[in-house]
Amino acid sequence: MRKKLKLRNKFIPVNIPKIFLQDKKNIKKCLDTGWISSEGQFVKDFEKKFSIYNNRKYGVAVSSGTAALEVALKSLNLKKNSEVIIPTFSIISTALSVIKLGLKPRLVDADLNTWNMNPNQVIKKITKKTRAIIITHIYGFPVDMKKILSIAKKRNIKIIEDAAEMIGQTYEKKKCGSFGDISTFSFYANKHITTGEGGMILTNDKNLYKKCLSLKNLCFGIGKNRFNHDDIGWNYRMTNLQASIGCGQLKNISWIIKRKREIGRNYFHLLKDSNKIYIQPLQLKYAKNIYWVFGVLLKKNSKISRDSLVKKLSTYKIQTRNFFHPMHKQKIFNKMKIFKNNNKNFPNADYLSKNGFYLPSGLGMANTDITYISKVLLKILNNI
Ligand SMILES: Cc1ncc(COP(=O)(O)O)c(C=O)c1O
Repeated sequence: MRKKLKLRNKFIPVNIPKIFLQDKKNIKKCLDTGWISSEGQFVKDFEKKFSIYNNRKYGVAVSSGTAALEVALKSLNLKKNSEVIIPTFSIISTALSVIKLGLKPRLVDADLNTWNMNPNQVIKKITKKTRAIIITHIYGFPVDMKKILSIAKKRNIKIIEDAAEMIGQTYEKKKCGSFGDISTFSFYANKHITTGEGGMILTNDKNLYKKCLSLKNLCFGIGKNRFNHDDIGWNYRMTNLQASIGCGQLKNISWIIKRKREIGRNYFHLLKDSNKIYIQPLQLKYAKNIYWVFGVLLKKNSKISRDSLVKKLSTYKIQTRNFFHPMHKQKIFNKMKIFKNNNKNFPNADYLSKNGFYLPSGLGMANTDITYISKVLLKILNNI
């Protein structure tokens, strides 16, 4: 006889960040010394240590991953109306960075197994007007980017690697965020390392580095001409307070990555036998799953809609997050007719956005939570 599931009364949020003792010590140092703005040693230390960790020469700390994308793309100095290839299945930040700069986004569908942009479609979308590709790694695996990188190099197409969800991940044994001309990261509270809010741009190109430093700081003039600005920039500075947390987090990165993979592995073994859902494998040939989040995709035979399922999970106090809503279906972009000349046939992105969601995956969760969540999920799936 099947054992009855013992219901719990505890709310399990989709993310609980992990704050380390070192983070607290560092932030106290800022408060005690008064170095609380973006001026401060922690910002410089964080930029340097994060660049070293990712094998890049230069780092520019910014206020978010969205800001990092905008600054990185603007630093490439592309002509208006240049085409930039992006995934349709992604956070809106990717498309926003392109649209706000007056560039033309060209969308690519997702791959149903990796949930990343389909590399073959990226290559097919390249035209004479393509000037950049934003390679965005989604959820657990990097994009299989070898072919894209090689073609981009031959055709002088710039690559921005958005590694917001891949801190510490590797692609063919090389750090994600160390590929292409420039790369971006996010340190929002649900990322592998966090500064509360925050982001980083990495590059090996000194000119791009200098341009990004300037763009994130209102393009102030130099010396006596400080208040005479030479370009349209932003105040996207990261504070010393945020960077101090980042330095503490970075000290613990090995533990963080190990624990993230452990959370993913635990869910994987508990859920792998269900024939109603698709979950990603632990490993592909070019990368081990880093489980930024633990995603679940309902199969066609599941007999329950994603929306009913997550509603049921919420009655058990289990919070979930739906997968991204694709760019070609965004209200605002359709109103603005942004993709009017794009083919809008992206069946995989549509399927993912309608049938996918992720389970609580934060570093602050206990193994007993993972067992409980998996049992509840299987109970719901098996009883319909
Ligand atoms: C792939 C990707 N890029 C960019 C961002 C934007 O980062 P932020 O929330 O720090 O602006 C996110 C946020 O989750 C993301 O997942």
